[in-house]
Amino acid sequence: MCGIVGYIGKEDCINPLVAGLTSLEYRGYDSAGIAILNGDSLKVLKDEGKLSRLKDLLKKNELCSNIGIGHTRWATHGAPSKENAHPHTCCQDKIAVVHNGIIENHSVLREDLIKKGHKFSSETDTEIIAHLIEDFYEGDLKAAVSKAIGFLKGSFALVVMSSDNPKLIVTAKQDSPMVLGIGKNANLVASDIPALLGQTREMIIMDNGEMAVLGQDSYQIIDFDGNPVNKAIAHISWDQEAAEKGGFEDFMLKEIHEQPVAVRETLRGLIDDDGTVNLKELKIDSSRIKDINRVVIIACGTSYHAGLVGNSAIESWARIPVELDIASEFRYRNLLVDDKTLVIAITQSGETADTLAGLRSAKDKGAIVVAVTNVVGSSVTREADGLIYTHAGPEIGVAATKTFTSQIAALYVIALFIAQVKGRLTNEEIKKRSVKLWDIPELIKQALTQEENIKKIAQKYAKKPDFLFLGRGLGVPIALEGALKLKEISYIHAEGCAAGEMKHGPIALIDDDCPVVVVATNSATIDKVKANTEEVKARNAQIIAVVNEGNHIFDGVADDLLFVPEISDIFSPIINIIPLQLFAYYVAKAKGCNVDQPRNLAKSVTVE
Ligand code: AGP
Repeated sequence: MCGIVGYIGKEDCINPLVAGLTSLEYRGYDSAGIAILNGDSLKVLKDEGKLSRLKDLLKKNELCSNIGIGHTRWATHGAPSKENAHPHTCCQDKIAVVHNGIIENHSVLREDLIKKGHKFSSETDTEIIAHLIEDFYEGDLKAAVSKAIGFLKGSFALVVMSSDNPKLIVTAKQDSPMVLGIGKNANLVASDIPALLGQTREMIIMDNGEMAVLGQDSYQIIDFDGNPVNKAIAHISWDQEAAEKGGFEDFMLKEIHEQPVAVRETLRGLIDDDGTVNLKELKIDSSRIKDINRVVIIACGTSYHAGLVGNSAIESWARIPVELDIASEFRYRNLLVDDKTLVIAITQSGETADTLAGLRSAKDKGAIVVAVTNVVGSSVTREADGLIYTHAGPEIGVAATKTFTSQIAALYVIALFIAQVKGRLTNEEIKKRSVKLWDIPELIKQALTQEENIKKIAQKYAKKPDFLFLGRGLGVPIALEGALKLKEISYIHAEGCAAGEMKHGPIALIDDDCPVVVVATNSATIDKVKANTEEVKARNAQIIAVVNEGNHIFDGVADDLLFVPEISDIFSPIINIIPLQLFAYYVAKAKGCNVDQPRNLAKSVTVE
């Protein structure tokens, strides 16, 4: 995944480009670059590494222009390097391109272009686009881009400028996100909405198969066949503050603290004040849901862990078989789904390639596909039959936190909805549970009050090389997610495991240098969890236990306790994850890690 931005207007483009790239850096930070019009020619500045390197370059080169494009890269084809950084230019350096996506047929196109005499200076798939446009260029940039994209296979959001056409920039979109910003004296384009909020609140979300030509005070949208497309301008009311850190040291910490609001907003979008489930965006006839005989949940990473919780809630309340699959596996299975299967694809970004591919395969087999996502206008929203939005607001930290708890909240509501439609719970039973959901935001707030205690405990363990996370029942998804959070931001090896499974192998890891984190809140299996904890204690492990306030069952067993307020077992995951998010955060901070942009990771993974 990469971030792209383009500006054409009356003012200098450097500030809007840099502001846009700063907001987009979560999409990739292997390199950054811009191209601007400098007199009659293009000037490209780019470097390997984070945006700060580009900012240093800009300080040394005093540039000013009213048209430019920019890019922040997450490497796919070609290593992170200055040569592979975007923008890429053609042989004569008259055309510059920034790209987000993957050109699958780039090798064939490259060979053809080399035969025609084009010389390449990078290993990227993107560079072929610049040369292809150059090959078709006969004085009309729009026409050349249009011809070039006809040869591209794969996904692309492109922004193109040319020194021979100084009054326009051209964009095209297929399977990668793209938004136009319509300003008073400027028009812009970017990978997402927050990147443009500093300039305008009037936006157009582009769809697949569309191109746009932006001038200083005009824009034209056409389809790939050249037909004009009329699109509504959406007024975006998001506060710019919402996309910034708001006084917290990192986005991740801010987003952890935003969870009471994120969950409340998510519930507000799905349940009416009187407790009635109201899935406004689902747009699937209830009779189709009534007929389903199976639910399949697909997702990746943290979203998969939310799916594990959703699995239990749907099976418990709707009494219908649920299967859960990792999207990258599901997409290649010989699928057993049909029009009686409800497939729920969970993806906060709405852009995860594996989840999108799984969704398409399920649709091809006739399944009813519903997407749970946080991003309005993301790819998944255009492909699913029905939508359930989480309303967590923009999540900038690469490690998912508020989108995770919001996904769980949404899945509880989906479980109630299926139970309602299939008549497995009475209206009264539905309302009883939906009313309980409204307690969750306040209980998350209470869990967050333990922050200082958790910080001290995290600092005590920050030098340990390995961690094991254990839980039973609904503690298992939280053990898995706690371990994922710790490893992705602190780079400490951590494994999550069902406590009963530990004796079948993981117990061999245990020694006094491998602390064990146990999810040990009240449930039907708490005594079993305690017995497993004693087994690891007997092997010299230090124990950190997540327990309910006022519960002394782990006193004398655990070395350290992380307290959470009590809630019924089915809702416990959404509360129990809070101390483990904070634990991972403070371990990573103690180690001096960049929690918002962990190495090798990107906010959404738009490649296989
Ligand atoms: C979460 O902290 C991870 N960065 C990652 O596992 C993520 O959940 C996964 O890539 C799925 O993303 P999605 O929800 O946007 O599809």
